[in-house]
Amino acid sequence: NGHGKPSRPVPGTDFTPVAPNTADAVVIPDGYDQEVVIRWGDPVLPGAPRFDHRNQTAAAQAMQFGYNNDFVGLIPQDSSGWRHLMVVNHEYTTETHMFPAGTYDPNNPTEEQVRIAWAAHGMSVVQTVRDPQGGLKVVPSRYNRRITMDTEFEVRGPAAGSDLLKTSADPSGRVVLGTQNNCAGGVTPWGTVLSGEENFNQYFANADAVTDPVEAERLRRYGFKAGASRRKWERFDKRWDLGQEPNEANRFGWVVEIDPNDPNSTPIKHTALGRFKHEGANIKITKDGRVAVYSGDDERFDYIYKFVSNGRYKPGRSAHARRHNSRLLDDGTLYVAKFTGDSPANEIDGSGRLPSDGEFDGTGTWIPLASGNVSHVPGMTAEEVYVFTRLAADKVGATKMDRPEDIEANPVNGRVYAALTNNSDRGKAGKAAADEANPRNGNRNGHVLEWEEHRGDAASTTFAWRLLLVCGDPAEADTYFGGFDKSKVSPISCPDNVAFDSHGNLWISTDGNALGSNDGLFAVPVEGPNRGQVKQFLTVPIGAEACGPVITDDVVLVAVQHPGEGGTAENPESHWPDGGAAQPRPSIVAVWKKGKWGRSGRIGS
Ligand code: FEO
Ligand code: CA
Ligand code: CA
Ligand code: CA
Repeated sequence: NGHGKPSRPVPGTDFTPVAPNTADAVVIPDGYDQEVVIRWGDPVLPGAPRFDHRNQTAAAQAMQFGYNNDFVGLIPQDSSGWRHLMVVNHEYTTETHMFPAGTYDPNNPTEEQVRIAWAAHGMSVVQTVRDPQGGLKVVPSRYNRRITMDTEFEVRGPAAGSDLLKTSADPSGRVVLGTQNNCAGGVTPWGTVLSGEENFNQYFANADAVTDPVEAERLRRYGFKAGASRRKWERFDKRWDLGQEPNEANRFGWVVEIDPNDPNSTPIKHTALGRFKHEGANIKITKDGRVAVYSGDDERFDYIYKFVSNGRYKPGRSAHARRHNSRLLDDGTLYVAKFTGDSPANEIDGSGRLPSDGEFDGTGTWIPLASGNVSHVPGMTAEEVYVFTRLAADKVGATKMDRPEDIEANPVNGRVYAALTNNSDRGKAGKAAADEANPRNGNRNGHVLEWEEHRGDAASTTFAWRLLLVCGDPAEADTYFGGFDKSKVSPISCPDNVAFDSHGNLWISTDGNALGSNDGLFAVPVEGPNRGQVKQFLTVPIGAEACGPVITDDVVLVAVQHPGEGGTAENPESHWPDGGAAQPRPSIVAVWKKGKWGRSGRIGS
C-alpha cells in the first residue's frame, strides 16, 4: 500500500469491525455493551408526563425529549468525568411516525399536532451521571431545559436590528422565537454549544407570493418553494407564510449558541457567522488566541466557510469568560473557501481514479466576504453579505462542494476535517463538473477532506489540502482509503458527522448509505501506516441515520435519528428501541467496553 506493513492495532481503533447489515438494532463489536440513554418523549423537565404515544399534547412534548436527535454535546461538570450536561439537537419532525396510524393527515394536520411538532423541535439539555457499570443516566436537575419554537432568542452581531430581519411581531429585528432544523454543532472551549440551523427553508410557504425580482432570487437561492409547506404550519402562525411575513425567513439559517450552564440564559443567533444551511459549527483557537469557527453549507454545490474573531479568547468556563467569549462571535471576518488542485485537469476526469501524483490534493485560500460592517463583496452591503451569504459567496469564486457537512479540527494533529456527504448532480448537464477536491461525477458515496492551515494557524488565509477518503465499496476502483490496503477496510458511504477520540483518530457517522446496508459509525486513524484504515464500530437500525457522535475514553454516544424513515405509520419498518409492534423512537445510545469487575474499559483498546 505504499506505507509499508501495517503495524500493531492503533490505540482507539482496536476492535473487531461490525459487518454491514440491515438489522433493526444497534449492532456493536464483540465485548461491548449498550443502553439507551434517553428517547423521544422521555421526561426532561420536572413534572413532565410519561410518554404516551396515543395521547400526545404540545404541553407534554414541551417538557419531554424532542424528536430526531442529531448533534450531541457532552459538557463535563466535574474533573472526574462523573457528571455532564448533555445537549442535543432535535433537527426535525417525522409526523407520519410520531402519531398513531390513521390519526395524522398530512394535508390536514390538526392545530395540536402542529403545536406538538413545534415543541418537538429545538434542543434539550439534560444532566447525566456515569453509571459505574457503563453508560450514562439522565437525572433530574435544575439544568434540564427544553428549547422549542417558542423560546426567545437574541439576535446578535452585525445584522442584528437590520431592516432585513424586522417583522410585524418583532419591529426591532433583534428577537426571534425558536430555532429549527438544528443539525450538527459543537461544544465551545468555554462550555457552551453552537448549533446549526440547516434546512430551515422547508418550513415556509408561498415563496411565489414574493414578486420583487431581487427578493424572489434570494428566496430561490435558499430553496424556498411556492405554495403550501409540507407541514402546513402557515395555517396556524402567519410567520411561516412568506406572502405575509417575508422577513421571517431571514431570521433562520444562523448558528445559534446556548449556554447550558445557565438555564435562564437567553440563547443567541450569531449573524456574523453568516446565513446559510449551516450543518454545524466548530471552533479552533488561532495562534494569537482568537477564535476561528468552521461551518459547512449542506447543499449540493455549496460552500465551506470560516469566521475569525477580532478579539482574543479568555480561557475558562466562568460566567464572565462565557459572556466575553460569546461576544467574540459577533465581531470578526467571514471567509469562504476556494480549493485549487495540483494535478493536470485532464487527470481529473470525474471517474475518481487517482491522478498520477497519487493524491487528490492542492492548496486553498480563504476569500473574505465581510469584516464587521465592511463588505468585501462588490454590489452587496455587509448586512446583505451576512443575511444572503450564499449570494455573496457565489460572486467571489468560491469552490462548489459536494454537500459540506460537519467540519472539525483534530485536537491532536491540528488539521481540519470535513465530511462531503454526496452529490449525485456533480457533472450533470449545466452543473459543475468534477474538480480535484470533488473528484467524482455523480458522487453517491461522498468523501472526506483534510486541510492544514498555513503554519497550522486557524487565522491563516491559505492552506494545503488533500482527500483522506473517497468513500464507497472498497472493491470499486473509484474509492480511496488514505492509501491503506483496500482489502482490509470497512465499506463506508455518505459521511456526515465527524468527531475525534483522544488519540486523534477520526470518527465518522453516516447518513444515507448508498451501499444497501444500514448507516453507522466508523473509526479511522489519520496518521502513520494505518492512515485510512476505516473500521465500522456500530450500525444503527433500519431507516436510521447515525448522528452525534461523542467519543470519550470509555463511552461512545450515538444519536439514532429517524429510525424507520422510509416506512409509514401503518408499517414503520423499524420498531427500535421499544420492540414488538411499537413505533420507532429516535434515541441516544451509550456504548462501552465491558471491563474488569463489570466496569467499563477503554474504547478501542
Ligand atoms: Fe442535517 Fe446536513 O445533515
Ligand atoms: Ca494531486
Ligand atoms: Ca448532518
Ligand atoms: Ca446529512
